[in-house]
Amino acid sequence: MYYLNPKVENLYRIFDQNERKDYLRLDLNENPGGLPEDFIRSVLADVTPQLVAQYPETLHFTEVLADYLGTDIAHLCLVNGSAEGIRYVIQAFTGEGGRIVGVVPSYFMFQVYSEMYGRDFVKVPYNEDLSMDIGKILDALTEDTQLLILLNPNNPMGNVYTDEEFETILAAAQEKQITILVDEAYHYFYPKTFIRYALEGEHVFITRTFSKLFSMAGCRLGYVAGWPEGIRMVQKMCTPHNTNAFAMKFAEAVLTTPGMLDGLIGRFREGRSWLISWLDANGYPHKGEAGNFLFIKPRTPAQRIVDRMKAEKKILIKTYPGVGEFGDCLRVSIGERRYMERFTEALAELDR
Ligand SMILES: Cc1ncc(COP(=O)(O)O)c(C=O)c1O
Repeated sequence: MYYLNPKVENLYRIFDQNERKDYLRLDLNENPGGLPEDFIRSVLADVTPQLVAQYPETLHFTEVLADYLGTDIAHLCLVNGSAEGIRYVIQAFTGEGGRIVGVVPSYFMFQVYSEMYGRDFVKVPYNEDLSMDIGKILDALTEDTQLLILLNPNNPMGNVYTDEEFETILAAAQEKQITILVDEAYHYFYPKTFIRYALEGEHVFITRTFSKLFSMAGCRLGYVAGWPEGIRMVQKMCTPHNTNAFAMKFAEAVLTTPGMLDGLIGRFREGRSWLISWLDANGYPHKGEAGNFLFIKPRTPAQRIVDRMKAEKKILIKTYPGVGEFGDCLRVSIGERRYMERFTEALAELDR
């Protein structure tokens, strides 16, 4: 009999079949404007036949990254997007039937991977007012928990943890020997980071991505930061040559071009404050400004707005159902002001 893994057969996945052409995509938390055109051209001008022909060499870029982070390469593992790093941590640091604790709603891949590998994903829900009660996280950390997944800031709630909260959680996790993974995909939009716990301690991993502020989602590049022994385990999981040469070339150029990161942050902030002022002026409750996205409570049914935005305005946004006191709401990626203007014009017309 042909064999099919039932965990795969029963796995629920959504495949993104949206054709991007002509659409403004504000549903995937990308940077809609992307990197400056002249910068892209200058990096591409440096692409040689050898770069394309050879397997990618990771050492140089890992050194550049380590230097940027003030650490050394033993603490870093490059991955093909941070979603891959998350998968490896789950695979290596939890076992069949293993207990994983994570907040919900959140980035859905934590649950997808847990199901894929037959782990028990235990959900810690947000409060009605969309705050997170860390007491609930602490209560969920049983002796048999293997992994705790946190996000800083969270997607889609945009909530963050204070140092005291994180240290309380960390102490509880360490007492029970539970590995912690902190997903910092939205670092830079909210600069506070817990990376030092990953670089200086043990059994704490941070995942980060070049898809968000770095505007390189199409290149696929991320990294896992952690203690050297933990990083060696993650490296063992990697497919051979999982990090492509173009991605590293672009990422190095972003990191080393003076003013590039500041420019990206500046344009993002301008778009964010413009959008927030518009929402406030027009009486829209919103949450989550720590990331590059916002949760907006619409006046009319959220799904109808999403459908009409797509059909009539060629704008893609996301809905989240039953989110505490916000109910069914919209999640919109933040980009440069011109994109936010296009979105708010559409919202003003469709949400009535
Ligand atoms: C919280 C979070 N983590 C990880 C990712 C994955 O990012 P990537 O695989 O592009 O690095 C995303 C993507 O949206 C995300 O929202």
